[in-house]
Amino acid sequence: MTTTAIYPGSFDPVTRGHEDIIRRSLHLVDRVVVAVAANPAKEPLFTLQDRVTLLQAVMQEEARVHIASFDGLLADFARAERAQVVIRGLRAVSDFDYESQMALMNRQLDPELETVFLVPALHLTYLSSSLVREIARLNGDVSTFVHPVVEQALQRRFGR
Ligand code: PNS
Repeated sequence: MTTTAIYPGSFDPVTRGHEDIIRRSLHLVDRVVVAVAANPAKEPLFTLQDRVTLLQAVMQEEARVHIASFDGLLADFARAERAQVVIRGLRAVSDFDYESQMALMNRQLDPELETVFLVPALHLTYLSSSLVREIARLNGDVSTFVHPVVEQALQRRFGR
């Protein structure tokens, strides 16, 4: 049986922290579907298509990683992808409230779906897409936080 994990998020944009979690997930399952949420309420910096394209570029060497987008309930998308597991990264205790609430709600929506929390590499625990967006917006150096294609996309997005 093929084991599949869904790794959902906004990925606005994908960071080295996300990459780390995806690669760690590959040790646990056969196939990882990175599920980019449309999330229009969050008014993302990058379009859904741009976020998918950046993830595809960053993950192009990983044959077992598939990039998709979704616009409904995560539990429904996970079922459609025949995923057994939802992966979420946990960086700090402050993440836990929201993450446990989401995991329990997803379990309510689909009792078969298990959420697994992965901890990123220590040097990436302080990283978030929102901090990367802010640093890039203020013309700071984000080269250690994101893949070069993402850095270039941020520069273009901020008109540089
Ligand atoms: O990167 P984020 O913004 O923390 O990701 C949040 C995300 C996209 C995983 C979450 O908002 C989500 O699953 N959205 C899809 C809609 C849904 O299923 N909502 C109920 C979650 S319990």
